[in-house]
Amino acid sequence: CGIVGYIGYREAYPIVMKGLQRLEYRGYDSAGIALFDDKELKVSKTKGKVADLKEKIESEIDTSGTLGIGHTRWATHGVPNDVNSHPHLSNSGNLVIIHNGIIENYESLKKELTKRGYKFESDTDTEVLVNLIEDVIKEEDVKLGKAVQIALNQTVGAYAIAVFDKTKPNEIVVARLGSPLAIGVGKEEFFIASDASPFIEFTNNAIYLEDGEMAVVRRDKGVKVRKIKDDSLVDPYIQELQLNLEQIEKNNFEHFMLKEIYEQPSAIRDTYRGRLHAEEGIIRMAGVDDNLERFLNAKRILIVACGTSWHAGLVAEYIFEDLARIPVEVEYASEFRYRNPIINSDDVVIAISQSGETADTMAAIKLAKEKGAFVFGVCNVVGSSISRETNAGAYTHAGPEIGVASTKAFTTQITVLTLMALKLAKAKGSISNTDFHMHLQELETIPQKIEVALQENDHIKEVAFKYKDARNCLYLGRGFNFPVALEGALKLKEISYIHAEGYPAAEMKHGPIALIDEEMPVVVIATRKGHYEKVVSNIQEIKSRQGKIIGIVTEGDTSVRDLADYVIEVPDTIESLTPLLTTIPLQLLSYHIAVLLGKNVDQPRNLAKSVTVE
Ligand code: G6P
Repeated sequence: CGIVGYIGYREAYPIVMKGLQRLEYRGYDSAGIALFDDKELKVSKTKGKVADLKEKIESEIDTSGTLGIGHTRWATHGVPNDVNSHPHLSNSGNLVIIHNGIIENYESLKKELTKRGYKFESDTDTEVLVNLIEDVIKEEDVKLGKAVQIALNQTVGAYAIAVFDKTKPNEIVVARLGSPLAIGVGKEEFFIASDASPFIEFTNNAIYLEDGEMAVVRRDKGVKVRKIKDDSLVDPYIQELQLNLEQIEKNNFEHFMLKEIYEQPSAIRDTYRGRLHAEEGIIRMAGVDDNLERFLNAKRILIVACGTSWHAGLVAEYIFEDLARIPVEVEYASEFRYRNPIINSDDVVIAISQSGETADTMAAIKLAKEKGAFVFGVCNVVGSSISRETNAGAYTHAGPEIGVASTKAFTTQITVLTLMALKLAKAKGSISNTDFHMHLQELETIPQKIEVALQENDHIKEVAFKYKDARNCLYLGRGFNFPVALEGALKLKEISYIHAEGYPAAEMKHGPIALIDEEMPVVVIATRKGHYEKVVSNIQEIKSRQGKIIGIVTEGDTSVRDLADYVIEVPDTIESLTPLLTTIPLQLLSYHIAVLLGKNVDQPRNLAKSVTVE
C-alpha cells in the first residue's frame, strides 16, 4: 500500500498518477485519487489496479488542479471494493484523507461518532478517523493541523496519513506512526509519498518524518514538523536523496523481478565494497567493529525476520555456527514476540529486513531491546524504521527492490551475514588463517560466478515450459542449501500460485515421499559439496517412485545428470557460499513459470512488498 500527494503550481494529476504507478510494487488491491482545482473536489476510486483507476478517472472527472492525493490500498478492514477504497471524505464533504496502517480502536470511536450523528459509508477505520478530525474541528474550533493532532492522540494503532480541507486548499497535513512517510521539498511545491520514488525527478531533497511526527505542508510557507504527542516543534532534517531514476525503472527488462535477478552480481559487489579486502585479509564493518566485544561475549545469536529475510536468517544460522561457532536460533518475528521468549541481556539479536518497515520484525526488536539485548539490523532501505530502531547495523546496499518477490535482497543479506560470520570467526580464532583467506577470495569471485549461473537462463526457460502446469512441486536441499530449498518453494508459490514445499532432502522419506508420483516435479539442490552422495541417494528414491527430477548441480556433474530429467549447472565454490549460486536458477525457474502462466510477476495477488500491519 502507498500514499502520494502533491501541492504546488503544477498539475497534480500526472504527478500523483505516476507516483501511484511507482508505488505499485508495494502491493495493493484498490486505488484512488482526490484532486482539487480551486472550485471543486473530485474523487475517483476503484477496486483493482492503478491502470483501472487511470481509465476510470480519465473518463469520469476533469483532472485539473494543483492539489492532489492518491492511494493504493492493501485491505485490512473491509474487503477490497470501490467504497472501501481511499480517499475517504468526512460527512461534510470538506475533508479528504488517505491512510496506510490500522486504527485499532476504531470501533469504539465509531460508536461514539455514530451517537453524535455521523454516518459511515464504508467498513474502514479510515473513514472513522477523518470524521473524528472533522468532529474536533467543529467542537474545538481549531485549524486542521491541530485537529489532526488532537484526533491522532485519541487513536491506538499505526498510520501514515495525508489529509486536506477543500475549504482551505493551501495545505496538506501529514502524520506518521509505524508507516513510512517522506516529504519531497521543491521550490514552492511539495510532494508526499510512502517512499521517495514518486518524486525523484522533481527534487533531490526530502524530509523523512520520524514515528510520532506530523507536518503541515503549505504551498507558500513550507513545512512545519511537530511531535504529535506533546506539540513540540521539530527542526526537520532535509536529506539529499541517493536514488536515481534508472534504479526504479525497468530499463530493457520485461519485469522488475528479472532486472533484479540480473542485478545480483553488481548488487553483491556493492554489498561488499569497502568491507571486503581480500588482498589484505581484512573485513571492515563499522557496525560490528564498534561492538565487537558485544558480539564476542554473546552466548548466542537470535535472528528475527519474516518471509524471504527469514530464509536468509536460516542460511546465516548454518554459516555462523559453522564458521564462528556461535549458537544461533532463527525465529519468525511474529512468533517470537507473542510467545514470551527467553532473552538474556548478553544475547545479540540480528533483525533482517529488506524494507526495514515490517511491523512484526519491528515489534520483535522492541521486545528484545526492552529485555536488554543488543539488536543489530540488516536492512536494505537506508533510513528505514528498523535501521533507526536497532542499536547498530549493516546495510545490504542492494539498491531499490521493486519486484514483490524478493531476489537481490536475499543474496545481499546472505553476503552481509557471511561477512559478519567471517569477521567474528577471525576475531574468535575459530577459523584458520588459510581458511579465512580462502573464504575472502572466494566471496570476491561470487558476482562473476553468478554471471555464469545466469547464462543458464534459456535452458531454465525450457525447464519452466515443461513443468509450468504442475499443481505441486517439491524442493529439496541439505545443509546450507536446505534454506535455499525453502526459498525456492516460496518464490514459486508467491508468483505462480503453484503449491510448493521445501524440505531437507533426507526428511523427504518421513512424509513428503508419499506425494511423489509421475506428476510431481522435485527440484533437488545437489551441488558436489556437502553430503553429495547422500543427496544422490535421495534422488534415487524419487526416481524409483517416478518423480520428475530437476537437479541443481555443480558444473561438470555426471552422477545426477544420469538420474535427473533436467539438470541446471552452477559454478563450483566452497560449501558455505553455495547458497549464493544455487538460489539463482530457482529464482529464474519460478520467474519463467509465472510468466508462462501469464501471472502478474511483479505484483502477485494478495501480497505486499512491505507489510506494515501486524
Ligand atoms: C513481505 C514480502 C516478502 C518479504 C517479507 C519480509 O511478506 O512479500 O517478500 O520477504 O515481507 O519483508 P522485509 O522487508 O522485512 O524483508
